[in-house]
Amino acid sequence: MSRDLEPEARELEHMFDISTEKLKEITEHFTKELTKGLSVDGGNIPMNPTWLMNKPTGYEQGTYLTLDMGGSKARVCQVTLKQKGQVENKQREFFIPKHIKTATANELWDYLAECVEAVVDKEGMLAKCQNDGEHQDDTLRLAFTFSYPVTQDSINHGVLQRWTKGFDVKGVEGQNVVSQLEEALRRKNVPVKVSVLINDTAGTLLASAYADPDTQIGAILGTGCNSAYVETCNNIPKLQHRNLAPDSPMIINCEYGAFDNEHCVLPRTKYDKLIDKESPRPGQQTYEKMTSGLYLGEIFRHAILDLHTRNQLFVGKQVPALSQPYALDCLHLSEVDGNGSSSLQSVLQISLEKHEMDLCQKLADLINARAARLCACGLAAICKKKGLSSCVIGVDGSVMLKNDVLRGRTMKALGEILDWDAKSRQAGEKGTGDTPIRMHFVKDGSSEGAAIAAAIAAAQA
Ligand code: GLC
Repeated sequence: MSRDLEPEARELEHMFDISTEKLKEITEHFTKELTKGLSVDGGNIPMNPTWLMNKPTGYEQGTYLTLDMGGSKARVCQVTLKQKGQVENKQREFFIPKHIKTATANELWDYLAECVEAVVDKEGMLAKCQNDGEHQDDTLRLAFTFSYPVTQDSINHGVLQRWTKGFDVKGVEGQNVVSQLEEALRRKNVPVKVSVLINDTAGTLLASAYADPDTQIGAILGTGCNSAYVETCNNIPKLQHRNLAPDSPMIINCEYGAFDNEHCVLPRTKYDKLIDKESPRPGQQTYEKMTSGLYLGEIFRHAILDLHTRNQLFVGKQVPALSQPYALDCLHLSEVDGNGSSSLQSVLQISLEKHEMDLCQKLADLINARAARLCACGLAAICKKKGLSSCVIGVDGSVMLKNDVLRGRTMKALGEILDWDAKSRQAGEKGTGDTPIRMHFVKDGSSEGAAIAAAIAAAQA
């Protein structure tokens, strides 16, 4: 770092560094908020019951059709479960066009129905995929991964509570997304009915548990940030009226991206506040806006723009691209963090001098480190709430899968919060897996988990 940029670097450190004590304070509040979400009155964190009441045995089999609507892509898959983590997944990926994110309900559902139609028609899935055994017709059963908060009364129903991850499609909030998708499939004469609605976190939990029965948590760090875990019904006061067996498991989709919407404990910078203000849903998803892939590049852009405006970076240069919202994404951030700069230079259309690169790198490092450390708080809160000192966390999501350093930092921070010994913390940082709590990566866990849920549901029907 060149000497004249040191004060700026110190100021950034001051904004983004989070001490172990602060992590512990955040986790303590987080644990209370998880419990509050399960209570009759509820709280900031929705803690949505998924009606998935069994983990897989590992012996589920069959071929299932799945649709996974993520933050930026839709995937239609033909998933064949063999056993114990052996899965064959033939998939086709569709990029969700940007305008769909703010379109009308019909436009969204018609687009997704077309994705399903494209695959079902061309690849002869009618012959391969299972219907649920109950209906002897030619209608295929679809397991639908919908990664937004929904209130579910059953496994194949879900009312959208609110959009997250920058989506703002009119006419869906407060409606049953399963009926809306089925209507669109009917409009297009696609012979498919939804048998299962599942969140990506719950899917990841199931996919990981299919291979490793010690899995208790499914976590996503990608466009969004969230986890699901295995609860027991006696700990869910808001379901008391359903008279469920008290010791029966229930997978809860926490939707903890909404943690600290009351702004009690998270150390928000001026950049976090700006992102929130400019987002389609200000005041919501406070934790997600500080940790997930959708926002990390935008935090980076706001910070660089601020330094530039204060004449501390790119002095005397014109950088109009910096004023473009979401011009930078988390891939730029990880590239710079890893000492590269070609894509950043091409987006900003300038060449970076050594001292400028140093400051951008420092900033990228701080933003990623903060995301990793905060991400550990949600995981630690579940472990503390459930008294889990050892278990497996199934993990999926582009940010976690593509960024080893961030992953290592998350594990190290988890160790700091849970007071692991130095050896385990180091193992966590190095990613050797020699830690009391381990991460198990399940790429495509969200789709594969949907197929597993469909297999479990079919066995129970
Ligand atoms: C957002 C969604 C949540 C999803 C997460 C990860 O937080 O609200 O449902 O699990 O993103 O994709």
